[in-house]
Amino acid sequence: MEKLVTREEIAEAVNRIGRQVTHDFAGESVVLIGVLKGACMFLSDLARQIELNATFDFIAVRSYGTKKHTTGEVQLIKDVTTPLRDQNVILVEDILDTGLTLTFLKNHLMEHRPRSMKIAALLDKPTRRVASVEADYVGFRIPDKFVVGYGLDYAERFRNLPDICILEEGG
Ligand code: IMP
Ligand code: MG
Repeated sequence: MEKLVTREEIAEAVNRIGRQVTHDFAGESVVLIGVLKGACMFLSDLARQIELNATFDFIAVRSYGTKKHTTGEVQLIKDVTTPLRDQNVILVEDILDTGLTLTFLKNHLMEHRPRSMKIAALLDKPTRRVASVEADYVGFRIPDKFVVGYGLDYAERFRNLPDICILEEGG
């Protein structure tokens, strides 16, 4: 498969985002919320680049549709257990595509009345946006190609690839 973002480029971007978060929340603490399962690699690498008092938790959703196209319907499968009231929450997601998942999750987490709410997305496909939501921290803006690796899957496969690759048509 063709590599779109190499492991070295990923590491550099994660390091940059970690430094930005460390700077933006200097003197405060943050709670990272990873969206399962795609964001698990990004969260675990990012957490180690943040030099702050940081905790993390996970949340999981199901979006309906075919493997490559979502219908926009999002359902919560697993909620967080960490109290988020008055906390600096950073929602950590693998990819911002239509924006429907992050819009749903942001609204859901805002009900906990956090002190602040930011979004970190490793990848962003801006041309695909349906819901008006933007990430505060972005690794890479990418074209409208279906990608796998570094947590991203196609029918649960390829999450363990160390680089982000373009899935071949018909693959
Ligand atoms: P959104 O709700 O359309 O923004 O979708 C976000 C979710 O769709 C991500 O968390 C991924 O699980 C999935 N997704 C979107 N684009 C891709 C892709 O290129 N490869 C793998 N998963 C993707
Ligand atoms: Mg995902």
